[in-house]
Amino acid sequence: MEKSFLMVKPDGVQRNLVGEIVNRFEAKGFKLAGAKLMVIPNDLAEQHYGEHKERPFFGELVDFITSGPVFAMVWEGENVISTARTMMGKTNPLEASPSTIRGDFGVSVGKNIIHGSDSPESAEREISLFFDEKEIISYTKQD
Ligand code: CMP
Repeated sequence: MEKSFLMVKPDGVQRNLVGEIVNRFEAKGFKLAGAKLMVIPNDLAEQHYGEHKERPFFGELVDFITSGPVFAMVWEGENVISTARTMMGKTNPLEASPSTIRGDFGVSVGKNIIHGSDSPESAEREISLFFDEKEIISYTKQD
């Protein structure tokens, strides 16, 4: 079954949105396979955002994501990668539709509440960056 890496960013944790966000993915019917509250070390942040290394906002991005605890998660389900992206809304919260996470709670493109993998390749890469294999739990869920 498909898995995605999703992470409540420091602004989402500060604004008490962890429960709200977990609730949305649970209510949708996805299965939580891993989760932890953590402060991201600098080298991990630079690896995670490696594709943005040449962007002018890279330093700001790394400073922000390491500025406080994040809630890192692995969610599992059919089409979870693209469905989670739809539920998150556009990267810029000012352009994100109402009833998406960023549309409802986001205030700026830097502080946009949540990160989610954008492809199966990045999901695999990000899950293995943030989680040990033994931290991903495989279990059956009753409907
Ligand atoms: P995310 O999905 O975590 O992936 C890359 C992040 O870069 C993105 O969310 C935004 O938070 C951030 N980002 C994109 N554009 C800008 C920008 N112009 N200034 C600051 N951060 C940005």
